[in-house]
Amino acid sequence: MNNGEMYHQHSDLQFRGGCSLMHEMLKPKRGESILDLGCGTGRLTMQLASLVGDSGRVVGVDPDPCRIAVAKEQLTKTNVDVPVVFRLGSIYEAVRFGQFDGIFSNYVFHWFERTERAEMMQKMYDCLKPGGRLTFLLEPHQPQRKFIIRDAVRLAMPTVDEEYASGMKMDPPSVWLQHCSTAGFAVELSQVVEINEVEQTLEKLLQVVEAAIPNFKSNMLQDNDLQTLKNRYKSGNGDEVVHTITLLKVSARKPLTP
Ligand SMILES: C[S@@+](CC[C@H](N)C(=O)[O-])C[C@H]1O[C@@H](n2cnc3c(N)ncnc32)[C@H](O)[C@@H]1O
Repeated sequence: MNNGEMYHQHSDLQFRGGCSLMHEMLKPKRGESILDLGCGTGRLTMQLASLVGDSGRVVGVDPDPCRIAVAKEQLTKTNVDVPVVFRLGSIYEAVRFGQFDGIFSNYVFHWFERTERAEMMQKMYDCLKPGGRLTFLLEPHQPQRKFIIRDAVRLAMPTVDEEYASGMKMDPPSVWLQHCSTAGFAVELSQVVEINEVEQTLEKLLQVVEAAIPNFKSNMLQDNDLQTLKNRYKSGNGDEVVHTITLLKVSARKPLTP
């Protein structure tokens, strides 16, 4: 199974977060055009399409060829006409589709290189119609104890720089809000939420981590590493484990007049 297929199977956590972001913050309307930036295998893109309907339009872009291939395959399996196109790429490819009413981006911004963030935000601004909204969810810097990605990556790659090993560039919420303001967005709503997530077993939780973190494979962990994680993450209910995720959710708007 390649990482695209694996992510498709083990991304319920991201899917749930994305659904709440979509319904609580983006609130797509019929007829709108929406860009799903970093759409992965397109699960949420298809939800966006059902909300904008036939008169609307959704574009999903992602730079990962395995994930975009799964998204395209899923689209061909859908028998009904859905107003979606999937493209390999990022915001630079999305600009070819004209301006959008909204940009939706779920669990993506913490993957941007710090050196490219300002330009990416500026391109997102350019990609939106005046009054258009940018809605995103990311994992900010999180000092809390039960952060499975940090612990799994530290144990699996003890000699590798943690940020390099996970690939995630995590910064405090204030940094992200400043990026929005610098690009010209008016931040209308921002929330930091902490969620406790339960998985039936540690093995299942590690599959979720493996699907999300390209450099990490569960088989990099030794038996004693697995025991350390079991002790730290056990919920007290059989083999069940519990971990904590901190999320930053933001809704920002491009002003009607610059
Ligand atoms: C955790 S997945 C989220 C996928 C999807 N949004 C979801 O919620 O299921 C993060 C995605 O961000 C994509 N990504 C990484 N860097 C990106 C960039 N510079 N521009 C757009 N997408 C990017 C990755 O390829 C990956 O599919």
